[in-house]
Amino acid sequence: MLFIAEPVVGAAAGAVVPKDGYWQRIREICDKYNIKLIADEVMTGIGRCGENLCLNYWNIVPDVVVLAKGLSSGYTPLGAIVVKEDIYHTIQRGSGSFVHGHTYSQNPLSTAIGAAVLSYIQEHKLIERSKQKGQYLLDKLQNLNSLDIVGDIRGLGLFAGIEFVTDKTTRTWFDSALKINKQIANQAFIRGLITYPGGGGIDGIHGDHILLAPPFIITEKQIDELVEILSSAITTVENQI
Ligand SMILES: Cc1ncc(COP(=O)(O)O)c(C=O)c1O
Repeated sequence: MLFIAEPVVGAAAGAVVPKDGYWQRIREICDKYNIKLIADEVMTGIGRCGENLCLNYWNIVPDVVVLAKGLSSGYTPLGAIVVKEDIYHTIQRGSGSFVHGHTYSQNPLSTAIGAAVLSYIQEHKLIERSKQKGQYLLDKLQNLNSLDIVGDIRGLGLFAGIEFVTDKTTRTWFDSALKINKQIANQAFIRGLITYPGGGGIDGIHGDHILLAPPFIITEKQIDELVEILSSAITTVENQI
């Protein structure tokens, strides 16, 4: 049996950070019932949340980690599966290889680019930077709480989500037909900011959010600008509904 999840939910719900204790309990349950724990760190891994792997925050060692995106910083398609030694040895004793054919698998160009990206990240301490600037971003984003339709602001490292609601106290969601998330993303885009709008975080249909995942080299001045643009974009949409 397997349990697979993102340590911090990304596109599906907008940077939802679990409470402390959640991942410890999941690990305990997996250990008790001999369930392999797979961490989908495609979004959260390689420093996005301010640690090498996001699960490091809770000192959790998964059995399998899947990685992509930040592994090559998008310069080339690259993904990886990292497994604990027992899984490695089981495969080694069996077929001797992980048979998962792809035309371009084990591509030396992609792996060389991945290695260069990881060295750059390490040399320039970009993961520490993601943690520090991520805290600055989260602090600054709190300014948006004064806006009527902002229901929640959350995140970890340079990975943040903003959820939109019709009523702050009841946290009632918008009619999904209004596409509030896309309206806000469009307004931000017009002003020069690219966001990742998403929805369905409540029940698969309802719930609007935008996800922010700026580059690790972002400066505090640029974060201030990002927040100003978002504020203006959200206010414009708020005034139109
Ligand atoms: C959390 C998560 N897992 C897995 C994937 C799929 O990764 P890939 O496109 O590298 O197969 C994505 C893609 O966006 C993702 O966000």
